[in-house]
Amino acid sequence: MSGLPPPGYLSSTDLIDESGGPVIRRILPAGKDGCQVTAEDVPASAAAIEVRGLMRRFGNLVAVDRIDLGVRHGEVFAFLGPNGAGKSTTIKMLTTLLRPTEGTICLNGRDAVRDPTGARRQFGIVFQDTTVDTELTAYENMELHGVLYGIPRAEMQGRIGSLLELVRLSDRANDYVKTFSGGMVRRLEVARGLLHDPSILFLDEPTIGLDAQTRALLWQHVNEMNDRSGTTVFFSTHYIEEAEMAADRIAVIDHGRIVATGTVQELKERTRAATLEAAYLSLTGTEVREERVTGGEQLRERIRGQRR
Ligand SMILES: Nc1ncnc2c1ncn2[C@@H]1O[C@H](COP(=O)(O)OP(=O)(O)OP(=O)(O)O)[C@@H](O)[C@H]1O
Ligand SMILES: [Mg+2]
Repeated sequence: MSGLPPPGYLSSTDLIDESGGPVIRRILPAGKDGCQVTAEDVPASAAAIEVRGLMRRFGNLVAVDRIDLGVRHGEVFAFLGPNGAGKSTTIKMLTTLLRPTEGTICLNGRDAVRDPTGARRQFGIVFQDTTVDTELTAYENMELHGVLYGIPRAEMQGRIGSLLELVRLSDRANDYVKTFSGGMVRRLEVARGLLHDPSILFLDEPTIGLDAQTRALLWQHVNEMNDRSGTTVFFSTHYIEEAEMAADRIAVIDHGRIVATGTVQELKERTRAATLEAAYLSLTGTEVREERVTGGEQLRERIRGQRR
């Protein structure tokens, strides 16, 4: 599909048609206020994340191409796509770190573009790259984050204690993070993302570079937290088995576009595939991607992007 939806309309989630044919697009009327628009399959009262027509350009490159998403409260939602598909760019926009070129983002009904402060209170984030301070202890990293989020002094110690317990790091609380393994750092980042008790947790490729045991442990923590507190989880990954194991629903993103959204069963049915891997390859193709621009050009684009 190419071209813009007619004026006054926003596109809804892209679907593969019953015959397994080309992507078709459902059209929904647009609301007056960006955060009042309701997705067809997610009632407004139940939506934790609502994204409409979200787009981001870096120079001539369209990294995220008018995507629509609806995530219910308490849902574990996977954003599955190959390298360069636009996952991190989308998560950066959802978490107010990058301004969209176009589109609306509502987090628990708060407009992430017009009311970033209100939106920020709704979520915690675990980034693709390590962001804890390795020259501080695990406890100090947590405390610093707590101060930034205005956690009351009286509650600080108790909250940090129980989260470090959740990620099995209590006995390392007072050790410098520079002495931690990659898996311990990731677990600390998950605990930190939960410190202000957010109702939504974003995780951008949280298990990259981790061994199988640590990956399993991390998903166990995330699932425990989802069961216990009903936290909505939105994670990106390019591991098919991880999306299959951990998520209630999956959106497949490729070249900046969402090519399908659904449960594992729905994605398999739509593509008439026996496995999620086969469904994914049928949706995204099997060729290894060439970067659309050369290394030098890409770097230049990135620098230009940072200036914007
Ligand atoms: N700041 C930037 N300036 C210019 N181009 C960018 C910038 N950030 C990302 N891009 C480009 O946008 C596209 C999407 O990148 P993004 O990082 O969102 O992909 P991704 O799905 O997270 O990939 P990965 O799985 O490798 O982390 C890529 O072509 C990338 O080179
Ligand atoms: Mg990424």
